[in-house]
Amino acid sequence: ETDPRLQRAVARMIPRLEQRTGIALSHVVASDSIGATLLIDCDGPGEKIQGIDEDESYSIESDSHSITLHAATTVGVIRGLETVLQLVDADAHHYFVPGVSINDVPRFRWRGLLIDVSRHFEPVSEVERTLDGMAAVKLNVLHWHLSDDQGIRVESRRYPRLQKLSSDSLYYTQAQVREVVAYARDRGIRVVPEFDMPGHSTAWFVAYPQYASAPGPYSIARNWSGSPAVFDPTRESVYRFINGFIGEMSTLFPDAYWHIGGDEVNATQWKQSARIQKFMAAHHLADNAALQAYFNQRLSRILISHHKRMIGWDEILHPDLPRTTVVQSWRGTQYLGQAAAQGFSGILSAPYYLDAMKAAEQHYLADPLAGDSTLTPDEISRVLGGEACMWAELVSQGSIDSRIWPRLAAIAERFWSPRSVTDVADMYRRLAIENARLEQFGLGQESHTDRYLRRIMNGPDIAPLSELLKLAEPVTLGQRTHTVTVTQLTPLVQIVDAARPDPPDRWRILQLVREYVSSPSTSVAQHDTLMHWFSEWRDLDPRVHDAAKRSPLAQAALPAADALASVGTIGLAALEARKSGMPLSKAWTDSAVVTLTAADKPQGLLHLVVVPAVRQLLQ
Ligand code: ACM
Repeated sequence: ETDPRLQRAVARMIPRLEQRTGIALSHVVASDSIGATLLIDCDGPGEKIQGIDEDESYSIESDSHSITLHAATTVGVIRGLETVLQLVDADAHHYFVPGVSINDVPRFRWRGLLIDVSRHFEPVSEVERTLDGMAAVKLNVLHWHLSDDQGIRVESRRYPRLQKLSSDSLYYTQAQVREVVAYARDRGIRVVPEFDMPGHSTAWFVAYPQYASAPGPYSIARNWSGSPAVFDPTRESVYRFINGFIGEMSTLFPDAYWHIGGDEVNATQWKQSARIQKFMAAHHLADNAALQAYFNQRLSRILISHHKRMIGWDEILHPDLPRTTVVQSWRGTQYLGQAAAQGFSGILSAPYYLDAMKAAEQHYLADPLAGDSTLTPDEISRVLGGEACMWAELVSQGSIDSRIWPRLAAIAERFWSPRSVTDVADMYRRLAIENARLEQFGLGQESHTDRYLRRIMNGPDIAPLSELLKLAEPVTLGQRTHTVTVTQLTPLVQIVDAARPDPPDRWRILQLVREYVSSPSTSVAQHDTLMHWFSEWRDLDPRVHDAAKRSPLAQAALPAADALASVGTIGLAALEARKSGMPLSKAWTDSAVVTLTAADKPQGLLHLVVVPAVRQLLQ
């Protein structure tokens, strides 16, 4: 008798293996091992509600006859099946799994992704696709940021004004929440809901202004400027409301943890309320942090009564909270250590903000527990892991895949694999393969740019823009919002939205330059390829200008195209000088450095990713 969840995992795996190989396979799972080519040996189903101590380990033995996958739990089998699929290799005539002996276990127990569906909503289909990708890279927590100033995204039967007034009709029904939670569980993924309070909470007060710290009315926030609306910690009615809400929601979200947010509290309303100031004095609450700590302790007691453990952003760190509380560090790695030192468990997010538009390499080399960590063994045991964060101020349903993937696969490896696994070149080699594999779930990162460009150009003639966006990435949230006004109502269909973070050619070109510079005389192929690249950059500019004549949206590509042409011209001259042995004049080099520095700054809303490579060539 097997666990139905295990059967479903196998049933999902077989078609994927068929699609990879073109070989029709038996869909009938035999209950004995006679003649089996893939033998799955699972000791038991694992925890009824997956928790942080779930056993995810597995082992794989393969020889010329068969593969044996053993795990203590169904979740371990789910992890192992992903590895089996990754092991499938091919030569000219055969698909095969190489002979291996693998004993695998995750380094960290909490390996998550946050998706923010408040700033921009994501439908269930997108959430489920994301869960498919997460399972493929062995992540185990979906942190669902379901409320913020810009919307509350879950249906409440007890407080239906929430979805009526605070959601723009974009919310998950309770049936949909159950579906997503079950879908995640089938893939060995926990779902931790976040309902952010006391700040980031404007949307609640559109429906229920009486729980805010200042009289309403309130409207849904459309910008990202940090609304002053904040829950009133001094009113008993607020705690009754929150208790009612959590009581209702806790039946939808079975996970042991409940995320209260707690970040970036704007205390303006607290300071301006004579009543709240009087309450603080009466309760000896010295400052706003103390008032928030009071609120959190009340929240913590409510959560305990609903059998939930509290997790919150690092601002919640306070000695009076129960030590079952988990602190999520977003402002810096140091808060993880502070939490651990005070006896709290913690997870790290600060280096894993996907909206920061960093290269996969930077995320990959940021370790939740760096080798030089000064934490004691006891403190280290309280570091549960990490979470990548996909904040959605500038991310919509159409673009979210392109922002999450493929960089998340590199972060997932950081959370799973030993600290010593840090070969960036090998990471990028494998990331490209994994990125292609992720497309099997319908994830759109690879098709994203051209799809957006076809819309921008209203047809298939996108070549110049497509070539440009292989070399340029979006600027960061801060750079964009300081340059233009962009609200929740702005269509995210610009050239910058078509661009992808860390386009693969950045790394390719950097490697070419490194190889060439290390040995110019023997690097003829690298020289010729770089020549070709740089000429293309120079010649791309008039073609982009031509395209922009047919599309107002395409005008935004011009500054980057112009800058790229100057970078290409400098690259050609540097290459020529190296080859001929004729040094460039100091005046020319100085001026080239100035040009490169300028080209490395935002060009409109794009950032060229190739300048460091050309700078290396010039040096
Ligand atoms: C956060 O980024 N405010 C958690």
